[in-house]
Amino acid sequence: MGRPDVVIVSNRGPLSFTRDDRGELVTTRGGGGLVSSLGPAVAGTGATWVATAVSAADREATADGAVEAEGFRLRSLAIERDVYKQYYDVVANATLWFMHHNLFDLARRPRIDRRWRQAWRSFEDVNRAFAEAVADEAGEGATVLVHDYHLPLVGGFLAELRPDLRAAHFHHVPFCEPTALGTLPDDVALALLEGLCGHGACGFQSRRWAAAFEACCHARGVTAPPTFVAPAAPSVEELLSVAHSPACEAELAHLEEQVGDCSLLVRVDRIELSKNLLRGFLAFEELLHTEPAWRERVVFAAFVYPSRIELADYLAYRSEVEGLVERINNTWSTPSWTPILLDTSDSFVRSVAALRRYDVLLVNPVRDGLNLVAKEGAIVNERHGVVALSREAGVWDEVGEACLELNPFDLAGTAEALATGLSMGMAERMERASRLHDLAEQGSPEDWLRRQLRAAGTPGR
Ligand code: G6P
Repeated sequence: MGRPDVVIVSNRGPLSFTRDDRGELVTTRGGGGLVSSLGPAVAGTGATWVATAVSAADREATADGAVEAEGFRLRSLAIERDVYKQYYDVVANATLWFMHHNLFDLARRPRIDRRWRQAWRSFEDVNRAFAEAVADEAGEGATVLVHDYHLPLVGGFLAELRPDLRAAHFHHVPFCEPTALGTLPDDVALALLEGLCGHGACGFQSRRWAAAFEACCHARGVTAPPTFVAPAAPSVEELLSVAHSPACEAELAHLEEQVGDCSLLVRVDRIELSKNLLRGFLAFEELLHTEPAWRERVVFAAFVYPSRIELADYLAYRSEVEGLVERINNTWSTPSWTPILLDTSDSFVRSVAALRRYDVLLVNPVRDGLNLVAKEGAIVNERHGVVALSREAGVWDEVGEACLELNPFDLAGTAEALATGLSMGMAERMERASRLHDLAEQGSPEDWLRRQLRAAGTPGR
């Protein structure tokens, strides 16, 4: 294979490796929203995908160079463990993620001290290592698509190393407003913006995040490159094939047994601070308080799976979530009814089964780049289910008109929306569900990738 004309760059790769009982290397799909939206789009394109080797098995599997898989090449970057932790845990996840999602508890965080500065140097080093790997892989004039908040500096480095390449950056998460950017030291904020501006174009999931990026550039006197808005889309075909699989049927049958004749409220999320799990459960409890008729008549099934467990904030959040669910169940359960079913196993098939079955789907993030679950739910649901959606999710722009609007901070308002969704008459449910279905089916992973390539200036795409 010659040098590729398209190079994809992301922190987490599309494949991860483990060792089975006999010590053989086994390949599985990498996890997370980025990979699930980008993976199907890149499969079969012949592109090269540069990503970090996260586990020891990942390093071993790719020690001899690039791996060929599913119609693309994976080139893994092995990064020293301590450097990776500083880049990924301290800067990307504990700082940039919090900043872009407005999650900082400003009385306490962030704390920019000597250790943070050291971590920022590691962040720069990893971004530079990515740029060097791309410079090494890419054919003359190739297009490079750099993904997400972990890798904002790649474009700046690449512009120096390989000015012949066309690079675009795509942010999967929201972009912060200028005030929030002010939580970073000035030189770091500037480096972040200038690194992004080193790409020929910057893409976002929603016009709102693009505008926030432009406002940050403007406030810091940096000239923004052209921006584009290209919301990610699930693969309808893949989703329906999971939904119709025997494994999914079995999961659905199991769920039906647990739910019985009750109405079903569902949520599917990572255990993640931005997803607003605590307020979701509290709003459900508010509903049980204010609308006694729903007691013993509705079950809230929450499929939420652990994420970023290396970070203390995430561990603490998980125990807070589990403690709250236990408290609510202890308060309200009756001999024949448990109000909340909390499932923390990471099973995509089980989540899809729940999405087929919901009467109301709760999607209430405090701020979210897009939120694919809202689209996935609308595509597979079989009960004319209603989606109660936070207006702070990027996907609101696309499908909000067919959903019940949530202010994610307003518990009483969320409880009211849940009551409205649960008691909605069939004619309105059908009308909304069919509109939502049509909106959610627009776009595809391939189309999304094409829009990024076009924005990067690739001829003929
Ligand atoms: C979510 C976000 C993506 C991000 C990914 C990283 O899916 O929407 O923007 O890239 O998390 O997840 P990870 O597990 O790799 O930290």
